[in-house]
Amino acid sequence: MKNVILIGFMGTGKTSTGRLLANRVGYSFIDTDNKIEAVNKMSIPEMFQKYGEKYFRERETEVIETIAKYHHAVISTGGGVVLNPHNMNLLSQNGVVVSLTASIDSILERTSRRNSRPLLETVDRRKVIEELLKARIEFYHKADCVIDTSNISPLQVTDKIIDFM
Ligand code: S3P
Repeated sequence: MKNVILIGFMGTGKTSTGRLLANRVGYSFIDTDNKIEAVNKMSIPEMFQKYGEKYFRERETEVIETIAKYHHAVISTGGGVVLNPHNMNLLSQNGVVVSLTASIDSILERTSRRNSRPLLETVDRRKVIEELLKARIEFYHKADCVIDTSNISPLQVTDKIIDFM
């Protein structure tokens, strides 16, 4: 079986869904952000603050190059992974790409709970979310399957992914 690659904007539930899905289908679970932090021994906010976004994107690509070769894995990606076609080519060669979407209100609510997203450290989060989404939406729709997670639980999202697989 191919890997399952979860893509989508921050706050669409990639990590919670990915963990649950991996448990249910007996795959290993990999979260690219966690992997970047472990490999570089540094948190993502710290990395952005010390070295900037470009540096983070390079580290992100290094991690993708490694994990794209794994098998039987559910891979939850950071929201910006889709911006680099090289990343997406590698991941999709060995995996089914599932895109999670959500309404702006859901994203706003979910991203207010965790303070670990440097791109959203701003006064007007709604405006930044709208702008980033506008620039990325076309990439989030280049997937084998698109699931709106706004009004359903991660468990229900995993049901839909399993139906699709
Ligand atoms: C980012 C999303 C984050 C993390 C980094 C950049 C983005 O991951 O990779 O802060 O560019 O959308 P999550 O989507 O898991 O929050």
